[in-house]
Parts: sequence; structure tokens; C-alpha cells
Amino acid sequence: MSDTHFGFQTVDEKHKADRVRGVFDSVASKYDVMNDLMSMGLHRVWKAYTVAVADVREGQSVLDIAGGTGDLALAFAKKVGKGGSVVHTDINEAMLHAGRNRLLDAGWALPTVICDAESLPFARDTFDLVSVAFGLRNMTHKDRALAEMTRVARPGGRVIVLEFSRPWKPLEKAYDAYSFSILPALGKYVAKDEAAYRYLAESIRMHPDQETLKSMMEAAGLARVEYFNLTAGVVALHRGYKT
Ligand SMILES: C[S@@+](CC[C@H](N)C(=O)[O-])C[C@H]1O[C@@H](n2cnc3c(N)ncnc32)[C@H](O)[C@@H]1O
Repeated sequence: MSDTHFGFQTVDEKHKADRVRGVFDSVASKYDVMNDLMSMGLHRVWKAYTVAVADVREGQSVLDIAGGTGDLALAFAKKVGKGGSVVHTDINEAMLHAGRNRLLDAGWALPTVICDAESLPFARDTFDLVSVAFGLRNMTHKDRALAEMTRVARPGGRVIVLEFSRPWKPLEKAYDAYSFSILPALGKYVAKDEAAYRYLAESIRMHPDQETLKSMMEAAGLARVEYFNLTAGVVALHRGYKT
């Protein structure tokens, strides 16, 4: 038996995925409005920056892991056009369902696959870009997920990870106060689930910092890994290339 973290709790790793599923089952219907409220709209800027750094072109193929309600998948679909492809995936049916509805409303019927990032049902060397936004933090074996993302990227293709990270030290106190009081309160009144948003704050603190994640991506076999701090490191975007 091996232990892992679920926020600040130590749990048997067999149970983490179920606990994470419970969180996203509970918040799926309020996920987008909560994202806008919690980040004061900043998540849109972080994602727009991600799309710019990803630099996908018309006709290319993209795999969006832990794609949830689909905003990155939609942005990539617009970039690759009808001649390209974007596969929208997530382990959670409720999140994927919300995302699929949103994509259809926007006029995009993308292939949608329920799958675990730690064991991807795609052939090696397939995608020009593999992306994950705010998903890696929730995975039980982040090293396996990164190795899988690398496996399915084509040689010369890139893997990008957008995730909460370590903010600039002078901001830490204010950021802690915000995360551990305002976030759970917003969760309680808007999503009717205070615990889910306490988990969010805790899982951010337990996630590897910028340099550690960079090393993990290198260990997964990616080259030329670099990262870009956004909003003073509250979020970081990592990018690496498959050789
Ligand atoms: C915070 S949401 C991010 C959704 C979306 N990418 C975004 O940026 O808004 C995290 C997502 O990760 C998914 N997830 C968690 N563990 C996963 C896993 N092992 N494999 C695939 N998706 C996973 C959850 O179901 C959830 O939809």
C-alpha cells in the first residue's frame, strides 16, 4: 500500500482518483462561473497566453488532457481549423459532458474521450501538441501522466502544462489569506461545496514548484523544457519538446 496526498490529507493512493472524481462531479455545473469569480477573469488571460505559447498551426493535431469544460480545446480548434484535429479528453464524465455541450454550442463537434491521463488510449508519436491545464495537480502519479503525454506526442512535438505554482515570496501571505478564506467561502455560496474549494487551495500548496516540475518533465523525456511565470508565479506555463 502506498500513500499520496489529497490536498493536505494523506490517503491510500488507490483512493485518490475517487476523491478527485467526487470533487469534479460536485462542481461541474458551476465550474466555469467559479473559475471567473475565483480568478477575477484571469484564467482567460492565462489560457490565451498558453494558446499563444503553444503556437499550433492550421492542420495540426492536438490532444487536450483533463480538458474539463473545454475552453482550451475550443481555442485550439479555432487555431488548427477544420483541417486539423483536437481531441478533448478528461477522466470525469460530468466535466467532459459540460465541455462537450459548450463546444457544440460554439459549433465544434470534437472527438471526446473519457480517459485517464496516466494510461492514454492513443498510439505513440501521434500529436503535434499535448496540453494539460490545471489538471496535473489532481493526478495520483504525475510522473506517469507526464510520461504518457510525452509518449503520444510526435517527435518535434511539444507538451505544455499550465498549472498553479509558487508565487513570488512577498505575495505569499496575501495569497494564503485569499486561498484559505475567500476561496472556500465562494465555494460554499456559489458551488455549494466548501470542501471542494478547500481541496483546491490545499492541492495547489502540495503541487511541485516551477523548478521541480521542470525536472519532472525532463525525467519524462522532454527536452528544452522552460517555464513562464504568470501573475507573479501564481500560475506557471511549462513547455517541453519531444526529441
Ligand atoms: C481544474 S479542472 C481543469 C479543467 C480545464 N482543463 C480547465 O483548465 O479549466 C481539472 C480536471 O482534471 C481532470 N482530471 C483529474 N485527474 C485526471 C486524470 N487522472 N486523467 C484525466 N483527467 C483528470 C478532472 O476531472 C478535471 O476535469
